Amino acid sequence: MRKYFIILLLAIVALTAACGGGDDEATDTTSGDSSTQADGGDSGDSSSSGDVAAGEEVFAGTCAACHGADGTGVQGLGKSFVDSQFVADTSEADLVAFVKTGRPASDPANTTGVDMPPKGGNPSLSDEDLADVVAYIKSINDVSGSGETTTSAP
Ligand code: HEC
Repeated sequence: MRKYFIILLLAIVALTAACGGGDDEATDTTSGDSSTQADGGDSGDSSSSGDVAAGEEVFAGTCAACHGADGTGVQGLGKSFVDSQFVADTSEADLVAFVKTGRPASDPANTTGVDMPPKGGNPSLSDEDLADVVAYIKSINDVSGSGETTTSAP
């Protein structure tokens, strides 16, 4: 009697395991789909305002050569962002436009006599890269803006 019971139990376990396996596969497919949707939502968010972590990578790859690895500037090359009143006072959208065009030494607004090249000399940077890097330089800026800054939280 006990033997039959155990065999019956084993059969039930085996059946359940088979069903469980089927369920797992279905769950995998679903989670794959939903992670794709989450990615879409993420990129929608980051295009509206830059992603600081991604911007740090753009900065290290393109801007650090002139502006210093920590954004504090390099004597005779790029200026510091940390104590830049310009970065504090200029909106993120305007900073993106600024970085796109740069500021040649011939520009009357140029303060160092050194070229700030368009896109930091890296034409492959996308608008999103620029928004990200601007968010990064805003995040390391230590000057309080003159009211123009709207969205930045302390
Ligand atoms: C080839 C060197 C060089 C590279 C690379 C470079 N910059 Fe510059 N940048 C400069 C110089 C020089 C200035 C100062 C221009 C002036 O005298 O007004 C400057 C100024 C700036 C300013 C204005 C700062 C202020 O206080 O007026 C911003 C913002 C800026 N750069 C952002 C960037 C970003 C973002 C990148 C990378 C995508 C970058 N730069 C890459 C040389 C560079």
